[in-house]
Amino acid sequence: MTLKERDKKHLWHPLTQHQLHPESVAIVKAEGCTLYDEDGNTYIDAIASWYTCMYGHCNPYITKKVAEQMQTLDQVVFSSLTHEPAIKLSEALIEILPNNQQKIFFSDNGSTSVEVGIKMALQYHFNRGEKRNVLIAFEDGFHGDTFGAMSVSGLSVYNGPFEDFFIEVKRIPTPNGTNHDNILAQLNAISKTNAV
Ligand SMILES: Cc1ncc(COP(=O)(O)O)c(C=O)c1O
Repeated sequence: MTLKERDKKHLWHPLTQHQLHPESVAIVKAEGCTLYDEDGNTYIDAIASWYTCMYGHCNPYITKKVAEQMQTLDQVVFSSLTHEPAIKLSEALIEILPNNQQKIFFSDNGSTSVEVGIKMALQYHFNRGEKRNVLIAFEDGFHGDTFGAMSVSGLSVYNGPFEDFFIEVKRIPTPNGTNHDNILAQLNAISKTNAV
């Protein structure tokens, strides 16, 4: 059986309507910007998620460092424990962040980092004893597939069944170089409601 056939037996893929896209391309190898499928076809990876856009797939330096780290300390929960790789990364990030940003909170993917941001904002006001439960978000954004991230994303075909469960959001236009005054006016109007 091919990988494509084995895939179809048990796997669901994200953001995919399987009746419209019954087959996935089975990738067996990646190098630089090239992906190789099980039939010997090659593709340019123009999606380039994670770090692959900057450093290419299977970058020898990154794979070596990851392999070394996995043999020393593979994983440990980050609540009340810490380790040098995280400390070193936080120090490197602080170096390039503006001076008013001195704290780092690591998350594990794009969607959960948006959840973390939303929870931090809500908890800030909760701790101050203020009820704030409306978020402001740009129209037409995409922030991921968890509930908070879907709530602040522009409404898309993927979100339909879940909209009843969203956090309340007021949307403002995305800046395009000509609409700053309009956005500012909308922001001011929304902030006067005091719920955000
Ligand atoms: C702008 C943006 N934010 C958030 C996400 C969600 O990231 P993840 O898929 O790691 O949850 C994506 C994913 O494509 C993205 O492009």
